[in-house]
Amino acid sequence: MAITGIKGFNDILPGEVEKWQYIEATARRVFELYGFSEIRIPIMEKTELFARSIGDATDIVEKEMYSFVDKGDNRVTLRPEGTASVMRAFIEHKLYAQDSVSKLYYMGPMFRYERPQKGRYRQFHQIGAEVTGVVDPMIDAQVLNMLCHFFAELGLTEPRLEINSLGCPECRPAYRQALKDFLRSRLELLCDDCKRRFETNPLRALDCKAAGCKEATAGAPSVLDNLCAGCEDHFSKTKQYLDSAGTPYSVNSRMVRGLDYYTRTTFELVTGLLGSQSAVAAGGRYDGLISELGGPAIPGIGFAMGVERVALLLSDKNFTRRPDLFIAALGTEARGFAFKLMGELQAKGVSVEIDYDGKSLKSQLRRSDKFNSRFTLVIGEDEIAKGTAQFKDMDKGTQADIRLETQDIFAALRP
Ligand code: HAM
Repeated sequence: MAITGIKGFNDILPGEVEKWQYIEATARRVFELYGFSEIRIPIMEKTELFARSIGDATDIVEKEMYSFVDKGDNRVTLRPEGTASVMRAFIEHKLYAQDSVSKLYYMGPMFRYERPQKGRYRQFHQIGAEVTGVVDPMIDAQVLNMLCHFFAELGLTEPRLEINSLGCPECRPAYRQALKDFLRSRLELLCDDCKRRFETNPLRALDCKAAGCKEATAGAPSVLDNLCAGCEDHFSKTKQYLDSAGTPYSVNSRMVRGLDYYTRTTFELVTGLLGSQSAVAAGGRYDGLISELGGPAIPGIGFAMGVERVALLLSDKNFTRRPDLFIAALGTEARGFAFKLMGELQAKGVSVEIDYDGKSLKSQLRRSDKFNSRFTLVIGEDEIAKGTAQFKDMDKGTQADIRLETQDIFAALRP
């Protein structure tokens, strides 16, 4: 029996991959407008990096990581996200010494052992961006503007931006306590997961989808009513900057992120078009993470989008590439000529397809249609003798004689 791929690990086949390349190229182009440089980080890190940054009591660290002990007895993990690795590299290479502000983006596969379904996979891909060194809420708004700019460039009006503030180590403990006091008498209503994490992470109940958790948290105190003056000011200035840029958003005080490193601004780009996997991109501020990982006290903010989810939103668009020219050649001499012509045109930057099997003219033209080539050139023994051939414009449905000279054909392809 043939060996199949692993559940939740997908191949991205030609036909689909063009869409991915378009998404990646758009991200590079837009992010570079905002001063971001690419960083490439390894796929595997020491397990403790994720335990310490994402948090021991999170679903990701508790049950979703691909962790194992390697042949040298090291505990390693396939990265479940990019922020921790980028910050590890930022500290390790002292990037903060080069400039007080650093803007980095990354793209690549991430790994989480989740139950696969539409929009949720075990190997999935993120494109993310991280800024370090800026406290001012201007950067919160700029990062969000950049993310919305990216989606606008793709022609997507979905997803919508939701924002929240999760406070800071000064105000969050009191809010946590207030929420726990509120939930204590409703504990029985909570789902098993939220019951289990009531002590370690009670905020998760706020955005849990279970009916009992929704009922239990109805009327719960809002994090936004419990921010300290500094966090309150930061959040209101972030909103002012977004307003001044004309970036639409709504405030969702129940948004709680599944990673522990967030402080102050958090956000998600959500859509109703992907069933239960509603977050297409998400992120927030993490002012304590770099020092938590042993670096200096430098603030940070960033996001990551799920490329599979972005691709699903683009599903009705056709990104398949079409060759500039298809050469249909009949007979040994014509095939030899076509082979040489093809190489010369490709060297000049023209994409050319050909039939390799020496099939009938009809079958070669069928193949040209299948490729949806822009132009077709038909060459046989007569054409070689005359030095001219028929050159068809497949979009216009017209045809004309053309000299069988590389220069002439090149000029006709590039009007
Ligand atoms: P996250 O919310 O865990 O945040 O993931 C970000 C995005 O990755 C999600 O919104 C979703 O689109 C996609 N995603 C997550 N898990 C899966 C999955 N199993 N299958 C498909 N797509 C998935 C982070 O990872 C943070 N590092 C974001 C960040 C960057 N915060 C600050 N900087």
